[in-house]
Amino acid sequence: MSILIKNGNIITATDNYVADIFIEGETISAIGKNLSVKADKEIDATGKLVMPGGIDPHVHLDMPFMGTFSSDSYETGTRAALYGGTTTVIDFILQTQGKSLQSALDDWNGRANGTAVGDYSFHMAVTDFNDETKKEIKTFIEQHGITSFKTFMAYKGALMIDDRQMIGLMEEVKKNGGLINVHATNGDMIDYLVQKHRSEGKLSPLYHYLSQPEITEAEASERFVDMASYTGCPGYIVHLTCEGALNAVRNATKRNQKMFVETCIQYLIIDASLYEQEDGAKWVMSPPLREKKDQATLWAGINQGIVNVVATDHCPFMWEQKLMGKDDFSKIPNGHPAIENRMELLFSEGVAKGKITLNKYVEVASTNAAKIFGMFPRKGTIAIGSDADIVIFDPKEKHTLSAKTHHMNVDYSGYEGWELTGKVKTVLLRGQVAIDNNDCKVPKGYGQFIKRNKVSQII
Ligand code: URP
Ligand code: ZN
Ligand code: ZN
Repeated sequence: MSILIKNGNIITATDNYVADIFIEGETISAIGKNLSVKADKEIDATGKLVMPGGIDPHVHLDMPFMGTFSSDSYETGTRAALYGGTTTVIDFILQTQGKSLQSALDDWNGRANGTAVGDYSFHMAVTDFNDETKKEIKTFIEQHGITSFKTFMAYKGALMIDDRQMIGLMEEVKKNGGLINVHATNGDMIDYLVQKHRSEGKLSPLYHYLSQPEITEAEASERFVDMASYTGCPGYIVHLTCEGALNAVRNATKRNQKMFVETCIQYLIIDASLYEQEDGAKWVMSPPLREKKDQATLWAGINQGIVNVVATDHCPFMWEQKLMGKDDFSKIPNGHPAIENRMELLFSEGVAKGKITLNKYVEVASTNAAKIFGMFPRKGTIAIGSDADIVIFDPKEKHTLSAKTHHMNVDYSGYEGWELTGKVKTVLLRGQVAIDNNDCKVPKGYGQFIKRNKVSQII
């Protein structure tokens, strides 16, 4: 099967030009002006932006968490991602404490293999680093192509590891050419504040926010960055939300560390005032939404090249699940749905409002994640030989977000009624038209697991 995309405005992290793209099988085989080739199918992209498929390196599909499971399966989650222009996601496998990493990988493979619609990979979350786990790191990197290891400095009593384990893991991961991802907030401080608020009868969603002040994130980010500097291990801070934490990274980079930063779309565009609403549980996530001054910091960080990736931390729960914490904020499952909305929200709030350029948009929504996580140039760009993962985007079309029309398996939207400029029209995944005219054309199981390269090979 061959496809010719004609006359589109091709945008990569560095380029902006009008040309045709010829696709044969799963990959791009030619790019040029007025290509004279015969294709099985032609798509006229005149007046449209043609960009690499989005990569969301922070999602939680079908994940056991806080006594329930996130409500999107690999099928519904990756399909919704495709509708929104995201062709590849990276999910988190969670080790059960006391068990091996391999047994967790087996569980996650059982949920994802044969059900994903879009492409996916895994980060391995290490919640119990010991002599046995240590032996598995090399196998994960070299045989499974899982090169990033997630750590939690919070969720005390559940997922959190201590600094002793962190240092040991960093040494092993560095030795084998991997990367450590971190949820960097101070779990002990948060645990103290949660219990304090509960004992004072302060139980509404606002106290979720007040139990995780900015200092809890700034302190842990700084500590993580210091440990990474000491061990020489490359690091990636997930869902960074605030000025204090970004300043910790600014300081660290003076030491020439390999340290990457991700924020998520919600931290750029909505703020903590939502916790005062009756339905504040919709935005209960960790870290919590912050202040307007933090949004300004994050947009600046993107333009300064210190914030490298805009992800989602997509972790949806039905309203019924959120109600598990109706009488106690600490029981509200943490997470928020955005896998389908990220690319359009970032375009509308970022590019259309003049906060970031088109090239920066592609860089933070796709290219940097491909580079950092060892998928570039297969993913994350439009180039000869790359996978034909392509989004054809109308930069002018206006539309409204709503739970009534989205494809995520969740019965509310955190962005109900938001009017956006710019819409995903057609999405190709590995040379197949996956989304066209608001219709999904690829079946359950089309999504492939993407083996990733060692960090040292690509940065
Ligand atoms: O609230 C969140 N972020 N839920 C998912 C788990 C995590 O911390 O990333
Ligand atoms: Zn987290
Ligand atoms: Zn997360």
